Amino acid sequence: MKISVIGTGYVGLVSGACLAEMGNHVLCLDVDPRKIEILRAGSIPIYEPGLEAMVQRNVAAGRLSFTTDIQKSVEYGLIQFIAVGTPPDEDGSADLSHVVTAARTIGRYMNARKVVVDKSTVPVGTAEKVSAAIAEELSQRGVKIPYCVVSNPEFLKEGAAVEDFMRPDRIVVGADDAFGIETMRALYAPFQRNHDKLILMDVKSAELTKYAANAMLATRISFMNELALLAERLGADIERVRQGIGSDPRIGYQFLYPGCGYGGSCFPKDVQALQRTATENGLDLRILEAVETVNERQKAVLLDKIDAHFGKNLDGKCFALWGLAFKPNTDDMREAPARILIEGLLQRGATLRAFDPVAMEEARHIFGQRAGLSFVESAEKAVEGADALVVVTEWQVFRSPDFEQMALSLRARVVFDGRNLYEPHLVRAAGLTYHGIGRL
Ligand SMILES: NC(=O)c1ccc[n+]([C@@H]2O[C@H](COP(=O)([O-])OP(=O)(O)OC[C@H]3O[C@@H](n4cnc5c(N)ncnc54)[C@H](O)[C@@H]3O)[C@@H](O)[C@H]2O)c1
Repeated sequence: MKISVIGTGYVGLVSGACLAEMGNHVLCLDVDPRKIEILRAGSIPIYEPGLEAMVQRNVAAGRLSFTTDIQKSVEYGLIQFIAVGTPPDEDGSADLSHVVTAARTIGRYMNARKVVVDKSTVPVGTAEKVSAAIAEELSQRGVKIPYCVVSNPEFLKEGAAVEDFMRPDRIVVGADDAFGIETMRALYAPFQRNHDKLILMDVKSAELTKYAANAMLATRISFMNELALLAERLGADIERVRQGIGSDPRIGYQFLYPGCGYGGSCFPKDVQALQRTATENGLDLRILEAVETVNERQKAVLLDKIDAHFGKNLDGKCFALWGLAFKPNTDDMREAPARILIEGLLQRGATLRAFDPVAMEEARHIFGQRAGLSFVESAEKAVEGADALVVVTEWQVFRSPDFEQMALSLRARVVFDGRNLYEPHLVRAAGLTYHGIGRL
């Protein structure tokens, strides 16, 4: 099949590469010429395991190419994926301007039948808006060309995006047009040879499904974060509680890890956008309101613990920071808890030595030259001569450090473990003071 992908970010590039890997011919469009230049030069503009090799392989095979030429892209594919960003607007609702622009350009340039697929995370009712924008452009041109709009939300996780796309748990398709449904079935057939993973539904339900999934996951995290605070007051160990409840198959172990708050480009904005949709429809989603409030508080939990230990004046104190990305295996720092922590520590007069396996370039871009903040080339270097260590992202390389050596390196010998990576007694046995999240 011939496929155009509008928006070559995380979702667009992964989708485009994986669809090309299955033998399709894919043209990826972006309005950012810098991204397209990087891709044409054989690199990729983001960090995502396995993606660069897949992109290179499919470019070499002539199945994957990149362009900034909107007309060429619209004319190219029968299927037009819309994978542009939907950032939060000032009021928390999803900003649909990029999606609507993409729809308009499809209407402006299409010269043959198109199946338009909303892959961006978009509020219920967006497919109708996309359809209306295309219809308006076609009517202005005075032409009649058949098209349909399908909702196909994406569930990939950054850090495991290629694997998730190639071996999806489910493929949600919202469509009411027979040709659209048939086209999506054919497109996804190679991804589900083992058993049928396609869950077909009406368009609005598909749009809501994506928000419901992220809202549920965010809820589990905030629930555990709140219980972790309670566990601390009660003298219980949240890690034991996690194991105790996760073993119940009705609950399961996934997404029950307390920490220093969720971040990233999806959970915060999707939780807000879903609340906004509800408010616009005369309903307050009380649970999600609490999920967000708890998460905002939780992003400050490490600062609170540092204040409690050292006091609010951190002049002359130096902190080693392990992890900057909002989660491991990505360089994405959108809404990352590390951002709040860094600002808070700098405000209190501390100096910071930060290390992240892949997100340091992104962090330099975000923070620029900030007095007191330096980036070092290894986890060990960060700790050398610092007073305390703060673990912010649960990268695998941080899981098993040499605590004896750490106790020699850290002046105040304190570890703030924002991801509960360590067994407290092992850290303490090395002569370090340990502060976890809800741990004894
Ligand atoms: N990142 C994730 O893990 C993830 C997972 C599932 C769903 N989503 C959703 O997918 C959508 C895209 O997210 P992302 O993380 O890939 O965003 P991104 O910011 O990485 O990429 C979006 C890209 O679209 C481009 N763009 C904007 N307007 C355009 C236009 N009119 N024509 C062509 N290109 C245009 C931008 O330049 C950018 O490169 C969002 O709705 C997001 O919520 C993201």
